[in-house]
Parts: sequence; structure tokens; C-alpha cells
Amino acid sequence: APLSQIKPYFAPTPLADNEGKKRSEPPAVQETIDFLGLQAHIEGGYYVETDRDPLNVANPFINNKDPGTSYAVSEADVTSAIRLSAGQDHSTRAASTTIYYYITPGSPLGCFHRNRGRTVHTLHRGRGIYVLIHADEVLRGDRAAENNKARIETFVVGHDIAHGERLQWIVEGGKFKASFLLPDTESRDRQSEGLLISETVVPGFEFADHDFMRSETLDELLKPEEVEELKWLLRE
Ligand code: GUN
Repeated sequence: APLSQIKPYFAPTPLADNEGKKRSEPPAVQETIDFLGLQAHIEGGYYVETDRDPLNVANPFINNKDPGTSYAVSEADVTSAIRLSAGQDHSTRAASTTIYYYITPGSPLGCFHRNRGRTVHTLHRGRGIYVLIHADEVLRGDRAAENNKARIETFVVGHDIAHGERLQWIVEGGKFKASFLLPDTESRDRQSEGLLISETVVPGFEFADHDFMRSETLDELLKPEEVEELKWLLRE
């Protein structure tokens, strides 16, 4: 997907309206939320954890020197590393965790964030665009990054494999990721019953391995014109 295609098709709506009521969804979408027992996700959309491997493994990130995936010890380090939450035993992680994740007409945007673990995504229903910012490459000095700016990757996930839409996609740890809903078809009246996927994180998800993109970080990583195109995908 070219950058010019990176625009909201569904207006992002607040978590709750003025009266504090739940955001409203089309009936079929609300049924899916209810059947699967989904709850609001802090990134936007809905989720439920469906599996957490009882096997624990040594935390592979604990002594990581890579600033893209290491733990920040001071507030000043937070733009290039993830905050280490106090009082938690970080010596192990579940071997894997799996969630359903659902972005919907009422909550059509999963905002920019990053996990240390690599994530395997599998499509069940719907269409959307993924935007990846390869911050880890810049932080590592991997590539001859022009002006030290990060590579942006975008792709469409959907069922139309003849047109290159993806059914499976892998996001390596240390990369910022955002997603947003596309209409099921470009014709008709741009309806969607939401983008429903499964995500398996290896090793398993912990909040200590997760952080949101900050606007200062977006400014550092991207060219000004790219920031303008993508800043609507930041957490509000
Ligand atoms: N709790 C809050 N967010 C998440 C997530 O993305 N994955 C899992 N497994 N648990 C969560």
C-alpha cells in the first residue's frame, strides 16, 4: 500500500461518549464481541487472551544490549528502549501467548506500539492496512539509513490473495506497528464487519515488553512529511 493510501476510512471514535455509554457497533460486530468474550484493548479495538503456555522459558530479552528491544533503566532511555516495570520477576516468560484481536467500525484503529517478542498474525475475517516502522534497524545502525530515518512498510491484510492481500504476517520484535480497518469492498457502501485476527507472541506477552509510540519518537524516526501522513495513528 502506498503512503497516499494511509488514511482513515472509518472515523476513529472515542472509547465512550459524553454520557459514558459504550461505543456502539453494528449488531453483527457486537455479536462477535459477545460470542468471543472480547474486551476493549488499550491500543484500540478489542481482544481476549485465549492461550498462555504454562511452560515458562528464560526471558531472552533480559540482558539484551540492543536499544530497540532492551529495558530502559531511566526515563531518559524510554524513546529507544522499553520501560522495566518494578516489582515484577522478569527472569522468565510464558513460552507463548495467543489472543483474538478485532478492530471494528466503532474502534477502527490499533495505534502505534511495539513489543519485544515476535508476533505471528493470522486473518480470520475482514480487511485492513498494517503500517510498520522499522525502528530497530535505525537503533542498531543496521542499514545505511539516510539521515538516520526509519524504513516504513505497509501492506493490506485480507482474503484477496490474487491481489497480494495477506492471510498471515509476522512482525519481528522491536518494530512499531499500527493497523486500521478497510471496507470489505471498495464498491457498495463501504461496510465492514471488522478485521478479526489471531496473534501469537513468542515469548508470551507482558506489559513490560510493550510500549506505545510517542510523538517525539515518531519525529525522530521519520521525515517531516511522513510524520504528517502517519501521526493520526498515534495514541491520543
Ligand atoms: N493484555 C493487554 N494487551 C495484551 C496483548 O496484546 N496480548 C496479551 N496476551 N495480553 C494483553
